[in-house]
Amino acid sequence: MCGIVGYHGREGARDILIDALRRLEYRGYDSAGIAISQDGSVKIARKQGKVSDLWNAICNENFEGSMGLAHTRWATHGVPSERNAHPHKVGDITVVHNGIIENYLELKESLKQDGRTFVSDTDTEVIPHLIVNYLDKGSDFEEAVRLALKRLKGSYAIGVMRDGSDTMIAAKKESPLLVGVGKDEFMIASDAPAIINRTNSFIFLEDNDIVIITNGEMRITDFDGAAVNREIKTVQWTGAMAEKGGYRHFMLKEIFEQPRALTETLIGRIREEEGDVVFEDLNLPDVSKIRKIWMVACGTSYHACLIGKNMFEANLRIPVETDIASEFRYRDPILDKDDLVILVSQSGETADTIAAMKEVKKKGLYTLAICNVLGSTLSRDSHGVIYTHAGPEIGVASTKAFTTQISVFFMLMLYLGKLRGVLDGDDVRRHLTELKKLPHHITAILKSSAAIEEIAQANMHYGHFLYLGRGINFPTVLEGALKLKEISYIHAEAYAAGEMKHGPIALIDENMPIVVVSPKDQTYKKTCSNIEEVITRRGKVFLFTDSFDHDMAPKVNAVFVIPETIYELQPILSIVPLQLMAYYMANHLGTDVDQPRNLAKSVTVE
Ligand code: M6R
Repeated sequence: MCGIVGYHGREGARDILIDALRRLEYRGYDSAGIAISQDGSVKIARKQGKVSDLWNAICNENFEGSMGLAHTRWATHGVPSERNAHPHKVGDITVVHNGIIENYLELKESLKQDGRTFVSDTDTEVIPHLIVNYLDKGSDFEEAVRLALKRLKGSYAIGVMRDGSDTMIAAKKESPLLVGVGKDEFMIASDAPAIINRTNSFIFLEDNDIVIITNGEMRITDFDGAAVNREIKTVQWTGAMAEKGGYRHFMLKEIFEQPRALTETLIGRIREEEGDVVFEDLNLPDVSKIRKIWMVACGTSYHACLIGKNMFEANLRIPVETDIASEFRYRDPILDKDDLVILVSQSGETADTIAAMKEVKKKGLYTLAICNVLGSTLSRDSHGVIYTHAGPEIGVASTKAFTTQISVFFMLMLYLGKLRGVLDGDDVRRHLTELKKLPHHITAILKSSAAIEEIAQANMHYGHFLYLGRGINFPTVLEGALKLKEISYIHAEAYAAGEMKHGPIALIDENMPIVVVSPKDQTYKKTCSNIEEVITRRGKVFLFTDSFDHDMAPKVNAVFVIPETIYELQPILSIVPLQLMAYYMANHLGTDVDQPRNLAKSVTVE
């Protein structure tokens, strides 16, 4: 999705902004641009393609000035091109924007009738036109921005500069934006990793906040100009955490970080000896009254919900309904006032998940977020939040967020189980003992990554893969197939293994390799029968299981052994080789692993 950065300080803005844009690249984009206030006017450069293309175009140009805005664009309205790239300048007003202006056609029409001409196909261009209109009518800069914003419907985070002015104005509604507070400088950014190398003090803006930075000072107002107070928060992430640290791709680094990410997510929350789980500031309503739990999310986070459902229903005996957020928000689900609604998101900025949360809040229910990004919209606006302490996830394909989300579901299941009296201290202690072993088990899997790379390299020429799993590992294979398709562009489908004979078996021949995840649980034998059916039809089989099977081994093409754990925790281990397999196939095929085509890291539009 689009990314915004702005700098207002004493140093040269150009290099600081280009560096910040590079840190925003992971969000996915198709063009980039920069605007620097220089000698009384704002100078702009834009390029279709990568930030490096923009840099090549400007590195030898005179771009001096200590105030500027920059942007990476992910096309929504108008094809990726230099003409549609941001910043957009109209008269003396320059704007960068993330989000979608829903009423732009109507505004454009009325602005055209006032004699204004448009040079791009974007929705954004109406914003500088509106501001200029109000300036022409006698408003000052700040008032003109406020009046323009009041005309907009939709979502936006914007940064605005004016020729001949030292003032930078930013505002947000339903798209993420924060202010970085540094020494003698302020920055604005779509997210913290973009500017974490300069400061770790942030103001996470709320909807309808307007920020005015001028003369080395910053203030925040609402859309009517009334002063608003926002707290400065310190985040613990460091610049190094958002860098590749010697790995070829962020995704590979993040896969290998999973033992640490898990450990950090557990720290301070589990009390093994007491058989207890502790969460701070959840403020949960009376849990004995909960009759149903909802788990709502998108993409990988939704797969974590499917796993959460499996473990909650098995252990708590409470019905759980899982929903894809984009469906939930429109289907008017039948919610009871005592239901618990859990919303899951790595970024905390996914538009559909935030909209689902708002629907639930409108109906007066308690909302609990499981989120990775401190200060994100979802984490701030939900009644309670449990953070996954996975650290910044930069690769577009989610990995460590997924495994830490499952670990949070597991701890929450134990926490609720104890509060509701269905689990006692001994049950919790036994479960925690298994949970604590996971970082060590993942490290063991990662040590065998060469074996997975070999399988990946030998099979990456196939155009299709079928993934099979059952029970709690059905979501694991859904996630494994998602990983493969999003980064390698190989078509992959996942089925509950028992469903194979109801349709997908028709696809099986020597050109359809099958990835099977099946630990030796109650359905293992049944899955082995499915494998036999595949082999009879000349399909290749790669089996991921938790102890070597001397009967199956000679029949399948490869067996990969995953350490044993309890049922509820299996997905945390079995997803790791599938993440690696997708990564190695994509890497050897030469795709853009960290920023796969057409994808964005945070999907901040509907
Ligand atoms: O930030 P979120 O967890 O809310 O993001 C949800 C999905 O957009 C995300 O998981 C997406 O599916 C990833 N590309 C998966 O790797």
